[in-house]
Order: sequence, then structure tokens, then C-alpha cells
Amino acid sequence: IRPLLDPVPLPALYASLGLSLFALLGTLYLVPALGPTFIQADLKGRDLLKTYNDPIPESLGLVCASIYILLLILFIPFAFSDSFVTQKGRTETARHGIVIHEFPHHQLSVYLSSLLSLLMATMLGFLDDVFDIRWRHKLPIPIIASIPLLIVYYAERGATDVVVPLPLRWLLGSLLNLGPLYYVYMSLLSTFCTNSINILAGINGSETSQALIIALSVIVNDLLYLPWPVGFRIALPLHLLGRPAEVDFGGTWHAGMAYGSRILVERHLFSLYFMMPLVAVCAGFLYHNWYPARAFPGDTLCYVTGMAFAVVGIQAHFSKTLLLFFLPQIFNFVLSCPQLFGLVPCPRHRVPRFDSETSLLHPSKAEFREKPPSAFATLILRVFATLGLVQLTTDEQTGAITATTNLTILNVLLVRLGPMREESLTKTLICTQVAGSVLAFIVRYGLAGLVYDG
Ligand code: UD1
Ligand code: MG
Repeated sequence: IRPLLDPVPLPALYASLGLSLFALLGTLYLVPALGPTFIQADLKGRDLLKTYNDPIPESLGLVCASIYILLLILFIPFAFSDSFVTQKGRTETARHGIVIHEFPHHQLSVYLSSLLSLLMATMLGFLDDVFDIRWRHKLPIPIIASIPLLIVYYAERGATDVVVPLPLRWLLGSLLNLGPLYYVYMSLLSTFCTNSINILAGINGSETSQALIIALSVIVNDLLYLPWPVGFRIALPLHLLGRPAEVDFGGTWHAGMAYGSRILVERHLFSLYFMMPLVAVCAGFLYHNWYPARAFPGDTLCYVTGMAFAVVGIQAHFSKTLLLFFLPQIFNFVLSCPQLFGLVPCPRHRVPRFDSETSLLHPSKAEFREKPPSAFATLILRVFATLGLVQLTTDEQTGAITATTNLTILNVLLVRLGPMREESLTKTLICTQVAGSVLAFIVRYGLAGLVYDG
């Protein structure tokens, strides 16, 4: 049988792997080397959960972002190496009057617009580090940074309809076209991805490990779509869970592969090329950011990694699967809403409280000092307390709420599991993120068959 689909372009894949290795070594070396320069430039912070006061270099996400983006730029010729080869073939065949291949300009525009968004995210993140922009003001910023992605998505005639789950089909039909709303959703996705990592922060290694695990999850998901040789059933365990919704794992190399599947492979390769160096810089940086941290990522790292996820989610058309990898962040965001939207006081730092005598972290509190909580805020806090997500302090006489533990997943973990050391809390957070990803795969490939008939 003649393969209908070219095998994965191995030279490009190897180049991406090689550059990622370079990114790992570069981050490992440059972060400590440039730390003192950052401190000199006043880019430093105090570790809130330590007894010592030494300045820790902050915003080193800028180093990671620079390495990441430069290597992605360096990779461009490799990504299109296939076209150079066919271009040669084209000149030869052109003599016989047949032109067989066009340079894939649309792929180049996908790639370049992604770089543009990443650069914007770096700049905005760094500005945030330097000027400490208030979160209310920085929420909409990534929306602007996502415009190039949306235009390219439009130019590619990207789908704007969603598959309606089976139980709702009688009402909405099987496909629902969201039209311009879909673009609103995608631009909000970039805001969500960037900010949701940033607000799940404050303990050593938290931002970096979230980004690392999400990137690894995206890579695993991408690998499922590559045309593995017949019989190489990497996804067998997942396959057993249920019928995969979009792809027939394994065997696709030789099986009658449709044009649509070919595009799927291209898109997931694109995602791989963006995720592998990201994993590398995050892993390299985590080494220095791990407890006790010698460097802080700053908002720059949160913005760049978040934007990288939004970029691959949008450009490779798997934004809904991507959101499944953000389960802890979605939980943290929903929980945070009363503080973010002013119903409950939001202190500058919501990190857990450090007890210097025992070196343990306790849930930190937000107090209602100026005015008592509104009836709505009281209702929400009581519901959260019933669910065991917060501990409330009440006035003995009036019964009114005077304080609540801060509404973050870190404080929830401390409320549920009791005080613990910072390192243990980071490890617990990592376990939560990994569990979230496992659940995401089960929902995506196991349960999707129950809800969709794809
Ligand atoms: C977000 C959170 C804030 C949290 C902060 C911690 C919201 C709305 N904002 O604010 O509650 O306190 O992140 O990053 O949820 N730091 C540490 N240890 C670390 C990392 C950071 O002590 O491992 C401290 C350092 O003092 C550092 C500062 O946090 O200088 C950085 O905070 P910044 O990223 O500017 O805070 P925001 O992103 O605005
Ligand atoms: Mg931050």
C-alpha cells in the first residue's frame, strides 16, 4: 500500500528537539549568570515566605522568553525545509510545464503571527513587572496581543461552529455556528491563559511548574495525532477507554488518510514545534526557581507561557481540549472571582501566611475592615464554606463575617490538608495539575464519545 501521508518530517522534528536541548542548557546557564544584572536594574523581589530578606532577581522570565522566541525564529527555516526540497523539484518539473508545489504561505503566516503574539506578551509581561500594572488594567491587554492570531484564523477560514452535545441537539441542532462570538471566545482565551497562571502564584516553583505540566500535556496530546507506523499503538490505554472522537490512533500512516487528517497532523506538528522549546525553558528555569528559589519568573514568564498555550490552542484548533488542561486554573479563577471583582477585599498578595517559628504555611486571610460583606458576598462565602473551600471568621455577637481565608487554590489546599511546608505545597500543586491533565485526557478521549458522536 502506498502511504497517503508523508511520514513526519524528521529533519524538522530533530532540529526542534536539538534547539530545545539548546534552550534547556541556555536557560540553566543564563538565569544564574544574569541574576546579578537584574538585581542591579532593580528587578528584584523579597521572598515573602522566608525568614531571610535577600533580594531575589525577578522577571527572569524575560531570559526564558528571549531564549524561547529567538530559538523559534531560528527554527523557521527548518520548519519549512520540506518546501525547500519540493521547491527544487518544482524548478525541475516546471521545465516540463507542471508546477507541483506552492510555498505554504499560510503556514508561514500562522507561524509569524504566533511569534508576534508571543513578542507582545513578553513586552506586556515585562512592563507589568516594571510598572506593576493593576490587575484590572492588565486583564484586557492580552486581548490586543491576540488580534494577529484571530486574523490568521479568519484568513484560514477557521471554523466558528461548535459541535453540540447529544442531549442539547433537539434544541440547537448538531452544529452551532457562533460566528463573531467564537472570535470573542478565542481572544478571551488568551487573556484567560495568561492571567490564570499569574494568579495561581506566590510559592516557589508554582508558575513554572504549571506551565511545564500544561506544555507536557499538550505535547502528549499532539503525539496522539501524528501518523505513527502501523501497529505502533501508543494510545492503546486511551483507546480502551472509549472511542476517540477525532482520530483513529495507530495505523493511520497506511490507512486511507483523508485530507482532513493531513491538516490535523500539520497543526499538531506546529503545536509540537512551539511546545518542545517551551518545556525546555520551563524545565531549565524550574531548576533555579525550585524551593528555595534563586530566581523569580515575574509576570513575563506567566504571560509568555500563557500566550504560547493560547497560540497553539487557537492555531492548531484544539482550544477546547487545551482548556481541559487548565482545570486547576479554571477552578482557581472561579474561586477568585469574588476577590477579583471587588465583592471581597483583595490584598496585594494572597499568598499563604508563613509561620517563621515552624516554617509551615497557613491559609492567609482577607479581612472586612472598611465595610461588612454585602448580602451577596455573604451568600457566596457561606456556600464556599459549606463546600469546605474557605474558613470564615465571624463576629460572635452579630454573626457577620469579619474575615475569610483568601480565595485561591493554594489556600484551599492548606484549609483541606492542614498547614505544610512550602516545598510540600508546591508538590501538592503539581500533583493537582497532573491529576487535572489525566482527567482531561479521560474526558477528552474517554467520555467525549458519550456526549458527542464524533
Ligand atoms: C499575583 C497574585 C497575588 C500573589 C502574587 C504572587 C492575584 C490577584 N494576584 O499578583 O495574590 O501574591 O501573584 O506572585 O491573585 N513571590 C514570592 N515567592 C514566589 C513568587 C513570588 O514570595 O515564589 C513574591 C515576591 O515578593 C515577588 C512577588 O511575589 O516579588 C511577585 O508578585 P507579582 O507577580 O508582581 O504579583 P501579581 O502577579 O500582581
Ligand atoms: Mg505575577
